Amino acid sequence: MRIALFGGSFDPVHYGHLELIRGAILSGSVDIVIVIPTVNNNFKRGRALTPAPYRYYMTDAVISSEFKKNVFVSDIEFSFDGITYTVNTLRQITKDSYIIPFLIKNGIPGERAAERHSFFWLCGSDILRDFDKWHKPAEVLSYAALLCAKREGDESDLLYNCSRLKELFGCDIALFNMKGIDQASSDIRNRNDINALPGACRDFIATHDLYNAIRSLDNCSDKACDLYYRSAVRMYPTLSSKRLLHTLNVDLLAAKLAHYHGIDADKALIAGALHDSAKEYPIEEQRSMAREISGDMFDHEKLLHSPAGAYIAMHDYGITDQEILDAITYHTTGRGGATTLDKIVYLADKIEPSRTYTDLTEMRRLAPVDLDEAVRLCAISVADKFRRKGRELHPVTSDFMRELGIVL
Ligand SMILES: [Fe+2]
Ligand SMILES: [Fe+2]
Repeated sequence: MRIALFGGSFDPVHYGHLELIRGAILSGSVDIVIVIPTVNNNFKRGRALTPAPYRYYMTDAVISSEFKKNVFVSDIEFSFDGITYTVNTLRQITKDSYIIPFLIKNGIPGERAAERHSFFWLCGSDILRDFDKWHKPAEVLSYAALLCAKREGDESDLLYNCSRLKELFGCDIALFNMKGIDQASSDIRNRNDINALPGACRDFIATHDLYNAIRSLDNCSDKACDLYYRSAVRMYPTLSSKRLLHTLNVDLLAAKLAHYHGIDADKALIAGALHDSAKEYPIEEQRSMAREISGDMFDHEKLLHSPAGAYIAMHDYGITDQEILDAITYHTTGRGGATTLDKIVYLADKIEPSRTYTDLTEMRRLAPVDLDEAVRLCAISVADKFRRKGRELHPVTSDFMRELGIVL
């Protein structure tokens, strides 16, 4: 098969991206397109981009709603350490050991998946201007030929760059015509103007309040942001999409609330980032990690992940700050003598933007202005749920609720 590979930040995915994909397929140059959201892009590090899992799941949602069977999304870059160059991605994705199972998983029959494939790097004409300055351009071309969109008005620059690259690398560049759509992700992001985006993309951004929430990072240090970005990539293989996106939402909301209530936004961001890190570990593993942190204090299966998360924060991320570790340990139960940080993580966990419980409106309104009242409403709703289900509150939760003035 002829396979086009289309890498990018997709922050967010817009109609320009979709037209490029459609144009490549309609031109008859390729059979399928594989879209590859970057994870650690060399040119856009740290806060310049939204964390990779958001961009990956957003791209996946848009591609699966716009295309049926010939465009797929690859998460290959999540398995790379450090900065990723296009050449590394091509080296791995073109290997039979990756591409055959990937195609089969996406519904391509085994026989076709195992054919000898030819690969193309799908790009816009602007890429050709600087292609020779990429990391190892000759090796890039040894894996994939360039397949470039040609838009009206591109001609002179495009033809000049094609002949220049042919002289430098001896490569032919395949061209196809594309309807020009002028959209730039950075403009959309900066203006938070999501109206001109594909429907699935708009829904995703609205569900996670993405480009508003990400501004919380402005109140955090580079060091805390670095841990936040690293944890997002590291948790990708260990948490389901829903849980990971929830986690990322909690971090951002916790950092925002910390800023409003005058406490350290870094601590809130880190506690939020790791609060559910153990949630999908096997239960016995959670139990043994929890024991290290809090002995036998928690034995209910639903509570183990909280102290186990503190264990992961200590051992995998080197967190030693007791306030952060406690906020993770008590994020499900609360505790007597809860700190402002404890309350913020507890509340953010229940009201982050993708939560759909029915009674969140008032808690969300109060959260930035009256933290204790918002937490009290949240705890009342938890107590009601326990009562309805006939479940006992943990003693530390009872202490927490009494101190909030809740009559049990
Ligand atoms: Fe949790
Ligand atoms: Fe959570």
